[in-house]
Amino acid sequence: MINKTSEYEIAIAQIKAITANESDLIANMANISSILFNGLSSLNWAGFYLYKNTQLVLGPFHGKPACIRIPMGKGVCGSAAAERLTKIVQNVHDFDGHIACDSASNSEVVVPIVRNNMLIGVLDIDSPVIARFDAQDAEYLSVVVDTLVDTMVDEVPVDL
Ligand code: SME
Repeated sequence: MINKTSEYEIAIAQIKAITANESDLIANMANISSILFNGLSSLNWAGFYLYKNTQLVLGPFHGKPACIRIPMGKGVCGSAAAERLTKIVQNVHDFDGHIACDSASNSEVVVPIVRNNMLIGVLDIDSPVIARFDAQDAEYLSVVVDTLVDTMVDEVPVDL
C-alpha cells in the first residue's frame, strides 16, 4: 500500500530545498520532474509542457520520450491548459482525445501552471496503474506547482 502522505511530504521538502534561491524555470522544472518521478510510486512519466505561441511544447521530464507539441484543448494536457483546471483521469483509454505517448500509461493527472493570471504550462504525471491519482494527489501537486511559481521572477531586459 502506498503511503502517499509521506511520499509527497518528502518530495515537497526536497523540491522546496532544491528550488530555494533558484529562479531558472527550466532548471527547477528538471529537478522537480526528477524528484517526483523518483519519489512517487507507480509512475511511468512525470514532467512539464510549456505554453508557447498558443500551444503546449514539451519541457523537462522523466520517462520515455513524449509527444512534443500539444494544441490547446487537445488531450488531457491541452484540456487542463485551456480550462486552467486540474484534470484527474482514472482511465486514459476512456478520455476522449487522450494523446497516447507511452502505451504503459493508464491513468494521468495534469495541473495547470498559472502566474499573474498568465498560463505558463502544465505539470503532467502518468501511471501504468488505473485510478492511481485522486484529490489528494491533486492537492499535493498544486503545492508543487505553487512552489515552482514562487521561484519565478519577472525577466529584466539585459540592455537596460
Ligand atoms: N497523455 C497526454 C499527453 C502527454 S503524455 O502523457 C506525456 C495528453 O493526453 O495530453
